Amino acid sequence: MLELHKIYQYNFPTIIRFGIGVIKELAPYLKEQNIKQPLLVTDPVVAELFFFKNVLKEMKSLGLHPATYSAISKNPVKSDVLKGNEAYQEHQCDAIVGIGGGAAMDVARAIALSIHNRRDLFDYDDLIGGDQYITEPIPPFFTVPTTAGTGSEVGRSAIISEDDTKRKRILFHPSLIAKRVFADPALTFDLPAAVTAATGMDALTHNMEAYLAKGFHPMADGIALEGIRLITESLEKAVNQPDPESRSKMMIASLMGAVAFQKGLGVVHSLAHPLSTLLDMHHGLANALCLPYGMRFNIKGCEDRFVAIAQAMQLQEHSGEEVVQALFDLNRKIGLPARLSERGVQEEHLEKLSELALADFCHPNNPKPVTLEDFRRLYEFAI
Ligand SMILES: [Fe+2]
Repeated sequence: MLELHKIYQYNFPTIIRFGIGVIKELAPYLKEQNIKQPLLVTDPVVAELFFFKNVLKEMKSLGLHPATYSAISKNPVKSDVLKGNEAYQEHQCDAIVGIGGGAAMDVARAIALSIHNRRDLFDYDDLIGGDQYITEPIPPFFTVPTTAGTGSEVGRSAIISEDDTKRKRILFHPSLIAKRVFADPALTFDLPAAVTAATGMDALTHNMEAYLAKGFHPMADGIALEGIRLITESLEKAVNQPDPESRSKMMIASLMGAVAFQKGLGVVHSLAHPLSTLLDMHHGLANALCLPYGMRFNIKGCEDRFVAIAQAMQLQEHSGEEVVQALFDLNRKIGLPARLSERGVQEEHLEKLSELALADFCHPNNPKPVTLEDFRRLYEFAI
């Protein structure tokens, strides 16, 4: 059982220090590791928060010389990584700490990759076999999540877009996993309801898509179902009446989603990615709006899996359509819009969106194939 005053440690897939107040361990831990000049990679919003300034203060009081790099885009691009690399060299850093949501974490991980692996960043694109060139060591790398959604703190990949085309590229290597994660639910206590809702639905989408993804990964399946259960139990509360318990459970579940989705994602993330690239929609919100439709698309042929999802969600009836209805209800209860058109998506966007969705790297793992016409139809339902 979760005791909120306790700090826990568990080691899967890396060392996770979890608990309210665990952020206080970061500075002493770096000192103990003999790190002297860490580069803290974060976003411009987090860089201004009290806790972040406090972390800097604590590090300095222990004799460390931290540098901060926060000039990153909402959807990170290659130049963000190159400038971060320059900051690392300029301050002669000896470690990297990614502090923030998905964007900060992705940039931090990509900077870590680029320090000793000196080819062009996109030579390492995993989809063209680039991981084989990642042969040089990665500097000590640590993560601190400030949202409960992406789960990127336990990931081994970074999604970075090309500056001009905005095409997303994936950098992946087992050595890119953080050496230690400091997961402190208190860092999410002040998140606005809209951010909690959108990031929480991203976490739910990770768990659901991972559970349905094709392929054999019973460990990921078990983790995903427990992640679904925790989110169903706590997201509404974390949005509408946040308390330490709901925040803590959401942080655990978002970590679990990212662990589970090493099995793969699916049609929902492929629908969501173009909404961010083309229309700058928040990733979690895009997933939330597409999730019920993507799940309905997947019911046929996956009926047994939907029974298990319905059980994890503690629904009265155990069927795919019940799950879909529960997702519509959840979006409404946490104040998210019901339709893409409420966020500026218009009929004229659908063709381009569908093409980009088809080219996306997630849906090949969907339990059933998705065609261009399917994507078009799903956007039409959701608009
Ligand atoms: Fe996601």
